[in-house]
Amino acid sequence: MKINLANIKKAQNLLNKKECVAIPTETVYGLAGNAYSDQACQKIFRLKKRPKYNPLIVHYYNYKKMKKDCNFNDNFLKLYKRFCPGPITFILNLKKNSKISKIATNKKKSLAVRFPKHIITRSLLKVLKFPLAAPSANISSQISPVCTNDVKEDFGKKIKFVLEGGKSSIGLESTIIDIRNKPKILRLGGLDVATIEKALNKKILINNKPSKISAPGQIKLHYSPGIPIRLNAKNTKDKEAFLLINKKKEAQPNHYYLSKTDNLKEAAKNLYSVLRKIKKKKYKSIAVAKIPNKGLGKTINDRLIRASKF
Ligand code: TXA
Ligand code: MG
Repeated sequence: MKINLANIKKAQNLLNKKECVAIPTETVYGLAGNAYSDQACQKIFRLKKRPKYNPLIVHYYNYKKMKKDCNFNDNFLKLYKRFCPGPITFILNLKKNSKISKIATNKKKSLAVRFPKHIITRSLLKVLKFPLAAPSANISSQISPVCTNDVKEDFGKKIKFVLEGGKSSIGLESTIIDIRNKPKILRLGGLDVATIEKALNKKILINNKPSKISAPGQIKLHYSPGIPIRLNAKNTKDKEAFLLINKKKEAQPNHYYLSKTDNLKEAAKNLYSVLRKIKKKKYKSIAVAKIPNKGLGKTINDRLIRASKF
């Protein structure tokens, strides 16, 4: 992807003025603001209609910049060296003298930290004097955006600028791991848990369905296309779209495919855009054929289960 320096400069200027800008990442687009500024963070909450108790995730260029704000340990370093920049978010403890806005964290002592890989956003983070608070750039509880158009659909002119970065290459949000004590996965995501387990050389607890909500990615209704979803369907009812992992020979107009060849990576990349496409077609509901529950298929199923709690 070619870097347009004028666009980066424009984003930088707006962010310096505590405005919000949408930014591309390899997972999904984010709605970004200065993480050190109460005013900028407040704007993010307001635009997204996000409940105040749901803290913002913060993006850094590298861990040297992050060190000023957060404590870290050996497990963090191991995963950072292996996977960053990339689709993994760490829950770390804030330092007492951290400059992160208390609006962003909802006064929590922890912070969700990510180092995105997308070259355009990395170029932006490199020149900024502050990290970026950037939750997914969608209205709260709706489908995450994977391109500029998706962001514009949700926010129209309410966002001053979307930094163009093409379609997100992964298409699902980052995997969240609480790395402070015994590592624990809080949200399945774009990085497969088995790969993280291999890097740490141990089994990791997956705690994405706790009774007490610690990451609202865990809230039941999420990623919702706004109509009911039926999982593990074998066929469709009247006025129902059929979402399939691969192309069937007897294709019908109401059939939508996540992949041409059963490829889970391709399916992940297409999931949110296909759901948006179906949403626009006025179906009454969506039937989803079984999706293999392995690798990224686990994340796809997690999102569809949450989207089905309509
Ligand atoms: O891939 C991603 O993570 C994208 C891109 C833009 O980076 N961002 C994203 O942000 O998905 P968001 O806000 O939609 O999801 C971040 C999740 C939320 O569910 C939030 O509750 C959780 O991170 N979170 C934030 N701070 C936390 C904390 N201190 N402890 C536990 N969970 C936290
Ligand atoms: Mg989100």
